[in-house]
Amino acid sequence: MAEEKPRQFVGKTEFKKGLEGAITNESSISYVDGANGKLIYRGFSIDDLCAGGGGFEETAYLLIDGELPTKAQLGAFSKDLAGRRAIPQEVKDLIIMIGSRTHPMNTLRTAVSVLGCLNTKEFEVNVENDLDIAMSLTAQFPTVAAAIQRVRNGQSILDPDPSLGHSEDFMRMMTGEAADPRTAEVMDMALIIHAEHGMNASTFSAMVTNSSLTDMYSSICAGIGSLKGPLHGGANEATLNTFLEIEDPAKTDEWFAAAKEKKQKVMGFGHRVYKAYDPRAVIFDPIANEFAERAGSGHLHEIAKKLEALVVADLGGKGIFPNVDFFSGVIYNAMGIDTDMFTPIFAVARIAGWSARILEYLPENRLFRPRAVYVGDLESNYTPIDQR
Ligand code: CMC
Repeated sequence: MAEEKPRQFVGKTEFKKGLEGAITNESSISYVDGANGKLIYRGFSIDDLCAGGGGFEETAYLLIDGELPTKAQLGAFSKDLAGRRAIPQEVKDLIIMIGSRTHPMNTLRTAVSVLGCLNTKEFEVNVENDLDIAMSLTAQFPTVAAAIQRVRNGQSILDPDPSLGHSEDFMRMMTGEAADPRTAEVMDMALIIHAEHGMNASTFSAMVTNSSLTDMYSSICAGIGSLKGPLHGGANEATLNTFLEIEDPAKTDEWFAAAKEKKQKVMGFGHRVYKAYDPRAVIFDPIANEFAERAGSGHLHEIAKKLEALVVADLGGKGIFPNVDFFSGVIYNAMGIDTDMFTPIFAVARIAGWSARILEYLPENRLFRPRAVYVGDLESNYTPIDQR
């Protein structure tokens, strides 16, 4: 048997921390054009999808099915989703039990786990069953997230209204009131632009988990766990907290100087792939301005713009620009949504991308199993415990 020379393994493959530049598989779901700041879902730009009027449902169909739906297909898909929006009593009970005691992402993750426990076909891993689970989870995420927000505010959980669109009903279940048309439209855009984003950390986590052919609920729980982190989806919450901490636009320079001094990363900036403006931040910037003005929190957008100017002047040369999480929090805050609900909103959208990726990879599934470069000893002398 040939002896493996562990340190030579370094030279065989190019090793970069954080799997930078590593290729995991072939996919036709989305393309993140990092150099030009473009995001394409199955050939269509997110700008066209946002402006097209087909809503989150159209984007979810496109990501999962692969094609733009006809009017009839979209109608049937939307009806199917709407009919799956309700959540079982066990999940409501769980939210009531833990919802106000822990972070909403923990409750969401646990709710998905409970949904898995309640599905007797959990272990049937095939495209047909996983598609069924994907449809149900995509439909139920808004209901779970809305229920979490309400329980945390001492309000009763609202059941879905299948006559409403996905985003409209999400807002209604959260706030208890019908959203005005512009708010519903912007929430819909938010869900569209967060729905999918290449091999990001949560998608990769979900795919790695699913590649062992475990049940889809476990894979989605892994995705939620990864999304929660402040370097990923959790950055939207952290970014708004930065603006609230700065408090006054006049204090932005002072805050940034102190952050630089502490070598602290500024949340809402930078991206592994984008070295130009994140196109999602470009869409959100004017909307954040509009919503903040409308809600009387214009100073938050003003702080954002001041901070953007400072960071871009300092780090733009390194390809560091605002990312999607930079302006989203200002919008959600102006909609009256609690700060720690921002990342669950990201999940309400990203479930479509996670699902599409898992379903695309399943037929050609091969276990993800990379290696680490072993840098430890190989021939240490073992000393029995009583002699150490
Ligand atoms: N503020 C200040 N400096 C930064 C930032 C930032 N936000 N991001 C990267 N840098 C610097 C970093 O200090 C490093 O500098 P140097 O080369 O001098 O050591 C260099 O840029 C490379 O940084 P990195 O952390 O190795 O880059 P990465 O590709 O691993 O990280 C990132 C990407 C998103 C994790 C990082 O930019 C970051 O931590 N940003 C803040 C958190 C954030 O906003 N996350 C949301 C990402 S977009 C939404 C999503 O998809 O989740």
